[in-house]
Parts: sequence; structure tokens; C-alpha cells
Amino acid sequence: MTGRFIVFEGGDATGKSTQARLLAERLAGRFTFEPGDCSIGANVRQILLDPDNVGLDHRAEALLYAADRAQHVAEVVRPTLDAGQDVVCDRYIGSSVVYQGVGRGLGRDQIADLSAFATAELQPDVVILLDADLSVSGARLGDDLDRLEAAGEEFHQAVRRGFLSLAEENTDSWIVLDGTGTIEEVSARIDAALGEYFS
Ligand code: TYD
Repeated sequence: MTGRFIVFEGGDATGKSTQARLLAERLAGRFTFEPGDCSIGANVRQILLDPDNVGLDHRAEALLYAADRAQHVAEVVRPTLDAGQDVVCDRYIGSSVVYQGVGRGLGRDQIADLSAFATAELQPDVVILLDADLSVSGARLGDDLDRLEAAGEEFHQAVRRGFLSLAEENTDSWIVLDGTGTIEEVSARIDAALGEYFS
């Protein structure tokens, strides 16, 4: 039996990385993340997040995220699922559709097609969108911002709205959860939602 592929999505500093790690522990699954959690991906991540790379073209940015995803799926996600272990991934196709498709204005469909190619059509079983108002995530971010985090409030508002629309259009596989509250409160919400989803 193949493992379950569970993805966390959300804006920057919505707490999803912490929650994805904790869920992977509870499930005895494999925690992983994009961009950068594979041999070649770590180099791609450096290019993508380096605040000095101000000249990175938006299409080049989209292709780099897709390249990282292709390597990550081939090297980590698919082999782990095939071995029967659950995979909990911090960010996946939804992040590209929203950040590059909506935020950068490249178009959601084109970016979704690019990711479909990159992943050989591997879709998650379920996506948990942790939603939080920008006043909450902004306060969690602090001042030391990477290239994407520094993109400005308008960009991040568009990202938040983009994620919520994607979730509304895909209610069969996306679950929106309130990302505010303590780590324990949010974990409890995640367990309850997944318990129902997989029942
Ligand atoms: P990271 O430090 O991993 O942030 P987070 O903890 O918020 O996930 O940085 C990843 C950044 O890359 C984040 O700002 C979102 C962005 N991103 C995209 O723009 N497109 C993508 O396809 C992915 C996976 C991430």
C-alpha cells in the first residue's frame, strides 16, 4: 500500500512548517519541504531565497521552483510513498499556483501545467491550508526577511486571497483551518480534520 501524501499550504509564517513537522512525527511519516529538501534542490533554494537576486525574472523564478519540485518528487516524495510511508510536505503545487501564478501574475493555469509536468502529475491526497490574518503572520515573521517574504503587503494579501480561492474551488481535497492560537490548539484542529477526512 502506498503512503498518504499530505501537503501544508499557507502564506509566510502561518505556522505550517511547525505543524507539518509535528504531524509527520505523530504519523511516523516523512517530513519534507519545498523548496530545497533534496540534493540539488538545496542549491536551487539558495538562488530563490537570496535577497540579493533582485534581478531574478518571474518566469525564471517559476521554472526554478518547478525544477526543485521535479527533483524533490523524483528523489524523495514518490520513493517514500511507494515504500508505504506517509509524506507530510511543507508547500507544494499550490504555492507555485498562488505565489507565481497569482502573486507574480503569470497565470494560474500555466503554472499548474508546469507543476503537472514537473511532478509527472503527482497530486496530494489532501492539502491543509493554514490561514492567518497578515497581522498575525507579519508579527511572526520579524525583520529578517528572505526574497519572497520581502515582497510587500499587497503581494502577501494577494497570496492569502489566492490560497483561499484555490481551496474554495477544490473542496474535495483542500481543508482550510484557522492558523491562529497555540501550537497545541492548531495541532488539535489538524488531527480532527484529518480524522474526519480519512475516515
Ligand atoms: P521558506 O523559508 O521555506 O518559507 P516558509 O516557511 O514560509 O515555507 O521559503 C519558501 C518561500 O518560497 C516562501 O516565501 C514561499 C515561496 N514559494 C514560492 O513562491 N513558490 C513555490 O512553489 C514554493 C514551494 C515556495
